[in-house]
Amino acid sequence: MTEFLIRPYRPDDLPMLKEIMVEAFDGVSIDQSIEHVFGIVNGHDWKWRKARHLDDDVRRDSAGIFVAEHQARVIGFISSWMDHETGIGQIPNISLRPEFRGQGLGRQLLEIVLDRFRQAGLTHAKIETLAQNAVGNHLYRAVGFQEVARQVHFVAELSNPRDAVIL
Ligand SMILES: CC(C)(COP(=O)(O)OP(=O)(O)OC[C@H]1O[C@@H](n2cnc3c(N)ncnc32)[C@H](O)[C@@H]1OP(=O)(O)O)[C@@H](O)C(=O)NCCC(=O)NCCS
Repeated sequence: MTEFLIRPYRPDDLPMLKEIMVEAFDGVSIDQSIEHVFGIVNGHDWKWRKARHLDDDVRRDSAGIFVAEHQARVIGFISSWMDHETGIGQIPNISLRPEFRGQGLGRQLLEIVLDRFRQAGLTHAKIETLAQNAVGNHLYRAVGFQEVARQVHFVAELSNPRDAVIL
């Protein structure tokens, strides 16, 4: 069985985690869907926008990020943060290098974060996935998540004259 090490995030992990996340979200990213419809937005591609989500995760709670290593090589991560007022823990991002998927590591990362939430006294955990993400839809249910809603994402191009309002 492959040996994995899971450890807390360090600031020097950031560039590698962004690279892993962008690779992992190819095909399952709302930012990419925006690009399919509108093309490059303001000179930035979907990968640039998606990578910035990790800056948000670090700002919110870098202690909620756990990094997976194989033979001293960073191969994936999970990010999380705790909303103590609502009692709900949030899991914004989870990503693994393709060759390390399907070996139970995603489940392990989720369990670590869920345990951390429990130990902190939270009562619920929240995670999102796209309808087309087969692994997400399977795995999240398998660790105890229940589907509560489906959401539709809309984007409007503001330079479109049809949308212009003269004040
Ligand atoms: C999502 C991700 C982190 C999961 O990690 P992982 O190590 O592959 O997950 P695990 O091996 O722990 O579990 C995967 C489960 O999904 C199942 N699975 C794998 N491919 C599947 C598919 N195409 N359809 C349905 N289920 C699938 C596996 O059988 C396993 O379930 P089981 O343990 O009940 O047999 C990883 O696959 C990944 O990085 N994916 C790309 C990025 C992504 O989708 N991130 C999540 C966005 S919400």
